Amino acid sequence: MTINNLNNYHNFDAGILALSHSKCKAGKDYETMSERTIGIMGAMPEEINEVVHLLSGMQECTMGMRTYYTGKLHGISTVVVFSRWGKTAAAATVSTLILEFKITELIFTGVAGAINPSLRIGDIVIAKRLIQHDMDARPLMPRYEIPLLNITYFETHKTQLDIAVNAVNDMVENKHLHALIDSTELNHFGIEHPRLLIGDIASGDKFFSNGDDKGSLSEQLPAILCVEMEGAAVAQVCYEYNTPFTIIRTISDTADEKSEIDFPSFIHCISSKYSVQIIKNIFKQF
Ligand code: ADE
Repeated sequence: MTINNLNNYHNFDAGILALSHSKCKAGKDYETMSERTIGIMGAMPEEINEVVHLLSGMQECTMGMRTYYTGKLHGISTVVVFSRWGKTAAAATVSTLILEFKITELIFTGVAGAINPSLRIGDIVIAKRLIQHDMDARPLMPRYEIPLLNITYFETHKTQLDIAVNAVNDMVENKHLHALIDSTELNHFGIEHPRLLIGDIASGDKFFSNGDDKGSLSEQLPAILCVEMEGAAVAQVCYEYNTPFTIIRTISDTADEKSEIDFPSFIHCISSKYSVQIIKNIFKQF
């Protein structure tokens, strides 16, 4: 396709959308749903297991190689699932949550590699905006722009952002943090006073483990705080279905060759404990 016939391309797409809309029953049901149902996705099975323990009347349902755990949390209908890794996997998971489980809001927790040099292991980032760093449809459209949406960044709604900020601030308060995680474990990972940063997260199908890749990402997108492999894909699907979302990431590594972190032990000792507490603190505000 050449740039010259791009207009035809957009018209062609509009035709597809009109056709699929008239056939789509799931979307219609969703619009008439009134009950609040929260979807919780985690990027690590271990953090999901911990959250599942919070559910009362838990039931499980397996679909498309994913197990969805349903139940009530603080009296609210909730569905918990492991996202699986990468943009496609996470997009498929959140689509199922929206279409099959009729979630009305989505909370995603997981780990991320630090891009901003001020971030330390154990700090937390809440996405204000998310971008897909591997999206590049030039010359059809500008680099990073999502085809057909004319959008480069997906933004978190203010209500969801404020709730997540309160939840994380409460957890990182010294007395709460030390009640949650043993000092020896915090010391082991060099975590003293974890900070919360709110800003841009970049997602893509790549695990960052060398300084050159990290350098070129931050050169191209200087405002990026951290990098991970699912958030912006989940945000895109939520945007397309008008579902509010929150993406919360704990910094697990420096996204370069210095990231010598023991992942399983970081997930076990630190990030899964963070996630459970953050989820509890979010639900307290509902
Ligand atoms: N998630 C956690 N660390 C990451 C990294 N370095 N690159 C991409 N995703 C990550």
